[in-house]
Parts: sequence; C-alpha cells; structure tokens
Amino acid sequence: MDTLLSVLELKKTYEVKRSLFSSKKEVINAVDSISFDLSKGSTLGIVGESGSGKSTLARCILFLEKPDGGKVFFEGRDLTTLKKSEMRSLRKDMQIIFQDPYSSLNPRKKVYETIGEALIFHGFTDKKGVISQVTDILKDVGLDEDFVFKYPHEMSGGQRQRVAIGRAIATNPKLIVADEPVSSLDVSIQAQIINLFLDIKEKRNISMIFVSHDLNIVRFISDEIIVVFKGRVVESGKKQEVFYNPLHPYTKMLIESIKGDFIKIGFDMKDDIAYGCPYYMRCTIKKERCRNEKPSLIGDDTHKVACFMDG
Ligand SMILES: Nc1ncnc2c1ncn2[C@@H]1O[C@H](COP(=O)(O)OP(=O)(O)OP(=O)(O)O)[C@@H](O)[C@H]1O
Ligand SMILES: [Mg+2]
Repeated sequence: MDTLLSVLELKKTYEVKRSLFSSKKEVINAVDSISFDLSKGSTLGIVGESGSGKSTLARCILFLEKPDGGKVFFEGRDLTTLKKSEMRSLRKDMQIIFQDPYSSLNPRKKVYETIGEALIFHGFTDKKGVISQVTDILKDVGLDEDFVFKYPHEMSGGQRQRVAIGRAIATNPKLIVADEPVSSLDVSIQAQIINLFLDIKEKRNISMIFVSHDLNIVRFISDEIIVVFKGRVVESGKKQEVFYNPLHPYTKMLIESIKGDFIKIGFDMKDDIAYGCPYYMRCTIKKERCRNEKPSLIGDDTHKVACFMDG
C-alpha cells in the first residue's frame, strides 16, 4: 500500500525546572526516537497514558512544534527541509483536531466564519460561495444549516466538535490528526463522534492518526496501533495483532484494564528515574539488562515489540 506519512526517529525534549524553588533543570524526553509509517486511507491509533508524549508527537508530526531530531516525510517530501511558504500550502493537506473544541474554536466567530476562513485561505471558494459551501460541509458532519450563523457558546460540546471536524475536512485534507477528540465529551456523545470519524474516513478516504488514552476507542477506530510509554513506542502493529496477541507487559496491562473500568493513570516524566527500558519501574518480567539497555522495536510490518522478554 502507498505510504502517506513516514516518521523517522522523531525526537522532542523539554527542559523544565525540577521544582518551583529549584534552579536545577531536568531534560524530559517527551518523544524519544519514534518511527512509524502511515498508509494512504489507513487509521493509526496512538495509545498511552497521560504524559506519555502523545500530544507532543502529534504536534511534531505536523510541525506545529519543531522536533529536535528525526524526520517526517509527507508523500515523500521531507518536512524538515520545506520553506515556510511550501509548508503553508501543504497545511491544507494536514489538519488537526484538538480535545477541547471550545478552546480550539474562536468564541467570537460564527460557524461560517470559522469554516469559511479555511476555505477562502486555501482558495477553495470566494466570499460569495462561502455560505453554500459551509452548509454542504455542515451536512457532512451532521449539522443542519441553522448552525451557519451560530457562535460556539450556542452549541453543545458534541456540536462544537462537529464544527471543528467540519473545519478540518473543509480543505480536503489527506491526513487528519485527532488528539483525544472525544475525551471532553459525554460518553453518550463520544460514540456519535467516533461514528462520524468512521463515516468521514469511509467517504473521503482520509488517513487518520487518532490519539487517545482509551484503548477501547483506539481499538474501535484504528487499522494499526502504536502503544507509547514515556515517549517510546513499546509495541506496534495491525490492530488484530496488538489487541488480540499483545506481547509487551504494558500493552497487556492496558488491555486488562479496559476489561474493568479504565483508570486513567499518568506520570510526570521529571519525577521518574531513567532506566534503560522506559517500563522498567513497573515491569513484572524485568531482567538485569533492562536496567541499563533500551530495547529496540523489533518485528515485522504486522507486529513489533520493544522488550527483552526473549533474551
Ligand atoms: N511545552 C512543554 N514544556 C515542557 N514540558 C512539556 C511541554 N509539553 C509537554 N511537556 C511534557 O512532556 C511530556 C509529554 O507530554 P504530552 O502532553 O505530550 O503527553 P500526553 O501523552 O499528550 O498526555 P495527556 O494524555 O495528558 O494529554 C510530559 O511529561 C509533559 O509534562
Ligand atoms: Mg495530550
């Protein structure tokens, strides 16, 4: 299958103060050498608990934040070498949807302005054609034409997220990165929005990266899954493999935990001791070498794992 996106050893570190009263700085490897490919028309789920680096990865892939190392190829073009103007014109092909549509939509703009600006900016219509195009897009995201003149505060959370999705699809993107797009919504609304993503994917053949701490949601929507822990990929592969034949103790734990009520656990990377394997502290099958050596992600295209379990 054709590759749309290739991420190669992507890295992002942050320097943060160890505590409020200390001048000592700590380096956090928020994204620690992550690589993966995304095929055209495919959906990749990125799952991991709070603080594991999912949002940083999402922002770095789209160059909304500059990575410290590694490369991102979009349709074979190396994003690290693009000029600002080239990047600007590529923006229409890569869109992002955030967790909280209330903060990602401008509260002073009506729906037709929010979606219309994207259309006009990228040359999809002129001012005269805006309303009718926006109405068409709203229909695609399940909102009737009354919404054209509404402000964000006049809508529910689910409706706002539909508008954000409308803005994202307005420019006919090839890739949508959705960062926890349903986490701020009521559970009953979450399913509707997930169905909308599935519908869009089917109708428009858009590739998607779907970020979530909730493995259940990721399982529902993804073709492939990568599991991240402390900025590293610990397991990746086809959904069936990762979900029904998990190899890494962390993935196994995540799957166990969704059988009961999923408890959102998280960690603060700066409070953590750095061992070889990122999962060392919590691992129940760790060996001596795991303390100092970082396991690489090894396997084939259908399934990879980063663990010294066999040697
Ligand atoms: N701008 C920043 N400055 C300093 N540290 C940051 C910054 N952004 C993220 N971090 C740190 O990088 C690590 C990864 O954060 P990130 O937000 O990417 O995680 P996440 O997996 O998206 O978490 P969540 O599920 O809570 O959204 C965390 O330790 C976080 O504190
Ligand atoms: Mg996040």
